[in-house]
Amino acid sequence: MHEDLERIVLTKEQIAEKVQKAAAWLDERFARTTPLAISVLKGSVFFFCDLVRAMKTSVQLDFMTMSSYGSDAVSSGMPKIVMDLAASVKGRDVILVEDIVDTGHTLMRMKDLILGRGAKSFTIVSLFDKPSRREVPVQADYTCFEIENEFIVGYGLDYAQKYRDLPYVGILKRSIYEK
Ligand code: IMP
Ligand code: MG
Repeated sequence: MHEDLERIVLTKEQIAEKVQKAAAWLDERFARTTPLAISVLKGSVFFFCDLVRAMKTSVQLDFMTMSSYGSDAVSSGMPKIVMDLAASVKGRDVILVEDIVDTGHTLMRMKDLILGRGAKSFTIVSLFDKPSRREVPVQADYTCFEIENEFIVGYGLDYAQKYRDLPYVGILKRSIYEK
């Protein structure tokens, strides 16, 4: 385990099992379509890659970078588009793949944006959800793990751009972000 972590909350194997289930859920819904799967970078990158490869349905891929955190462990509440999509979402079945829904501001912004651009349908899949932290009423259609109000890192999730490359998910020691 990385020395900056207090404990591991999910192992590689536990994540892989949930990713398979999420893929099966999506396959059921999108069997006869070619959806556009959008990864919200950078946090969802590993989840996204594992998820689309576990799906039987062929999907097209696109990427978008949103930013709200700076190097803080607290959301600024004003997500900005850092990098926009390459494809048009007009008339498309969109699957938005998120790492974690926290206050909900990022998701709300993405939802308005994509539906505003004329997507035919909009489905949100999130690896994590912290329901107790919500500030705006938005919810994923499929969530792999619900968690308490703790700051987690690994498998794409960062603190100040670190720890994304850990293959498991863990809780950061308080001393790391309170110093
Ligand atoms: P929201 O806009 O507050 O819902 O924040 C969503 C974004 O905040 C996520 O996509 C993550 O990038 C980041 N985030 C929220 N909670 C955590 C956490 O526990 N660890 C790492 N990143 C987090
Ligand atoms: Mg982040």
